[in-house]
Amino acid sequence: MVKDYILPERTSENLLWRPKYHFTPPSGWMNDPNGLIYFKGWYHLFYQYNPYHCNWDSMHWGHAVSKDMVHWKDLPMALTPDQSYDNHPEGGCFSGSAVEKDGRLYLFYTGSIKKEGTTVQTQCMAFSDDGVHFTKYENNPVIAAPPKGASGEFRDPKVFSHNQHWYMVVGGTVGDSEGDGNCRVFFYESENLVDWTYKGVLLESNGKYGSMIECPDFFPLGDKWVLTCSPMNHPQNIKALYCIGTMDFENGSFQVEEVGNIDEGFDYYAPQSFVDKNGKRVMIAWQNEWLWMPWCENWGPTSSENWRGALSVPRVATIENHQLHLYPVEELRNAFETTKKVEKLKVSTDRLYLDTDHANSYLVKMVLKREEIKSKVVELTVLGHESEGTVISLDLVGNVLTLEKRYASERGSVHCNMGTLGNEIEVLVMVDNSCVEAYVDRGAHCITNNVYPSEKQKECWISTPYKTAQVECLEVCCLVEDEKKES
Ligand code: FRU
Repeated sequence: MVKDYILPERTSENLLWRPKYHFTPPSGWMNDPNGLIYFKGWYHLFYQYNPYHCNWDSMHWGHAVSKDMVHWKDLPMALTPDQSYDNHPEGGCFSGSAVEKDGRLYLFYTGSIKKEGTTVQTQCMAFSDDGVHFTKYENNPVIAAPPKGASGEFRDPKVFSHNQHWYMVVGGTVGDSEGDGNCRVFFYESENLVDWTYKGVLLESNGKYGSMIECPDFFPLGDKWVLTCSPMNHPQNIKALYCIGTMDFENGSFQVEEVGNIDEGFDYYAPQSFVDKNGKRVMIAWQNEWLWMPWCENWGPTSSENWRGALSVPRVATIENHQLHLYPVEELRNAFETTKKVEKLKVSTDRLYLDTDHANSYLVKMVLKREEIKSKVVELTVLGHESEGTVISLDLVGNVLTLEKRYASERGSVHCNMGTLGNEIEVLVMVDNSCVEAYVDRGAHCITNNVYPSEKQKECWISTPYKTAQVECLEVCCLVEDEKKES
C-alpha cells in the first residue's frame, strides 16, 4: 500500500525561498516532472532528481503522491541509474511518462549514457504493481536507437493510449541538437508496450521550431489534438510550445492549425500533462530554466537552502477561441481563503498596502472594468520593500501585462497580452516565496517567474504611476495550511 511507504514529513520547510504550494525536492536538485498519473486513488508525481547535491547530474526519478495535487507526500526513490544503459554521471534515468495497463503502472524513460564521448539515448521501461517499487524491464531498452538519419539526442518518451492502441512521442533532431539541427517529434505505435513500430514524424522544424525537441506530449482536447514540447533554440525563444491540430492516426500525420506559447515567463519548461480523476487535462512544468537559455544567469540562490528547482502549480488545460488556456486547478484555488475583499477600490499614486499577514504565500485577484479606467497603468507590487519588489503592471490602454523585476539581479521584464474578455480584465497573481505567477483573463495568458526577495521584502501594495484608477474588485487570499481530509 502506498501509504505504508510515505516518508516522514519534511522538517526544513520554513525557509525564505522554499515555496509552500509549489512542489520542491526534499533536498538536492530537481528538474522536469515525469510520469504524472492518477493511479489506484493517488496522484503520482515523479521528477528528475539528484538527491545528493544541488547540481544536475546522474538523474534519478524522485517520487511523491497526493490526494489533491496540492499536498504532496514523499515516497522512496522510484528509479536509480544502475544499469549499463542508464548509469552515467552525465546521464541517468532521463524524463518520461507513465501509463496504467491491467492494474499495473508502467514507466517509460530515456536511459542516457556516454560511450567514448558520444551520447547514447534509448527508451526504457519499468513497472510496478503497488505504485512504490519499480522493476526495470529485463529486455530494456524497448527502443534501442533513433530512426534512421536522426541524431543520438533522442529522448523523453510520452506514452498514451487511443482507440485500444498504444502510442509514444519522442523528442529528437536531425543534425546538431545544439546548433543548426532540425528538431523532430518522432511517433511510435505498439500493441503491448514492449514492441514499438516507428510510424513517422509528427512535427518537424523546417526552421520554425528550433534545433532539438525535449519533452514532447500529445493529447486530445475537445475535438482537437494538442502537441506540446520544449524546443531548444526556438527562433522566438519559446520554451514551452503548443500546436493545436488534427491527427490522422492511420497515416501518422498531424496537421498543425494553431501555434502558441504556453507560458511567457522565464521559468516554465518541460511541461507534462495527465488526466485527473475528474477527466480534466492537467499540466505541470519545471519552474526554472537551463543555462543555455539566453536570459539564464544561474539557477538562483536556493542551493544555500539545500534545494534547487520547483514545479509549476497544476493547471487545467482547455482550448478557447483556438488558443490553449491554462488555469490553476480548483483544488489549489480552494486551498486559499479570502482574507480581504474590496469592491470599487480607488487607487492612486499613494501606495495602498494590502495585508498578506506578513507571509509570502498568497493570491491577489483583480477585476478591472474598462470604462472606469482613468489611469493608463495600474501596478501591483508583490514581495516588496521600499524601492524593491516585483511589479505586475497592467497597461489598460495597450492591453499588456508586464511582470517587471525591480531588483539588483533584474533580468528584464516579460509581457503578455490581456483583454480577451471584452470589457472586463481579470488578473490572478500567485505569490509563493520565490515564485510569482500572473494569469490573465482566466488563463488566456500566463507568466511564471522565479524571484529571490530579501528577508525584508514582505509587503504588497497597489498604486498607479500617475492619476487615479478604480479596481472593480480586489481580493487577497491566504493559504490554508491544513490538508482537507478526504472521506
Ligand atoms: C529537459 C531535459 C530532458 C531530459 C532531462 C534530463 O529539461 O533536458 O530532455 O530528459 O531534462 O534531466
